[in-house]
Amino acid sequence: MLELRQATYRYAGYARPVVHEVDLRVDDGEIVGLVGANDSGKSTLCLVASGLAPASIGGELKGTLTLDRTPAAGLRTYQLAERVVIGFQNPNTQRSGIAATVFEEIALGPINLGLPVTETVARTREAIARLRLEPIVQQDPQRLSGGQSQLVAIASLLAMRPRHVILDEPTAQLDPAGTQLVGEALHALAAAGTSLLVAEHKTDLLEGLCDRVVALDAGRIVLDGPAGRVLGDPGLVALGVEPPSHVRLGRSAAAAGVDPARIDVALQ
Ligand SMILES: Nc1ncnc2c1ncn2[C@@H]1O[C@H](COP(=O)(O)OP(=O)(O)O)[C@@H](O)[C@H]1O
Ligand SMILES: [Mg+2]
Repeated sequence: MLELRQATYRYAGYARPVVHEVDLRVDDGEIVGLVGANDSGKSTLCLVASGLAPASIGGELKGTLTLDRTPAAGLRTYQLAERVVIGFQNPNTQRSGIAATVFEEIALGPINLGLPVTETVARTREAIARLRLEPIVQQDPQRLSGGQSQLVAIASLLAMRPRHVILDEPTAQLDPAGTQLVGEALHALAAAGTSLLVAEHKTDLLEGLCDRVVALDAGRIVLDGPAGRVLGDPGLVALGVEPPSHVRLGRSAAAAGVDPARIDVALQ
């Protein structure tokens, strides 16, 4: 379980916080979606929830981050890394730069955790299979497409088998097939008891993936509830978030005088 209580975070050198009084709990096996307009504070909240802010990037956090009942403030960096991993929107920032092949890149996480070779290889193979990366395992990680890089970055996180996963727009560079693969991999992680926080613009993905969704506005949580309810909330558009396609279709139908129930039936 990962829990933020009254988290208010200010970047180093800035007078004002960009995340305000956030209370957020992600239970084991739960996937919580995070939506909000650009600049609403999603990435910053991901950094705070991962413990990187303030431990690695500085700034000031008021309130607490707790991981499985242990306050993150008391953990060393390596202890934090064993418990929670974060995937960034741009996979290039995550690539090690030292691995010659995709296989090695994915294996680096388990190696850094000090795991035995057999365990490292088993986890690496499992992550590769999960994201169907077999055709590119021998390729140079520096020479991948944006979508391939994103899948490799996610596989690298999976191979660490973390208890808590924070993902900042994990499918930003992926086509629908890649997005679906990531969705399936995240479902499997949650089924194994991992808690996940996923910032994402693709609300269609979140609706199928998440138990709960929270919406941010100017660094504050303004909606928090079951995915279907939050993503169907009439106030979502005003927050700068595009509702899932079936919600938009239903609204267009209603505006055109067609009974939305008939469209829902037709879609099934
Ligand atoms: N490294 C940083 N230093 C100072 N301010 C930042 C930094 N990163 C983001 N911000 C500011 O924090 C606010 C929230 O940004 P961000 O968390 O990136 O939002 P989102 O991910 O929702 O687009 C913005 O006003 C942005 O300018
Ligand atoms: Mg962002």
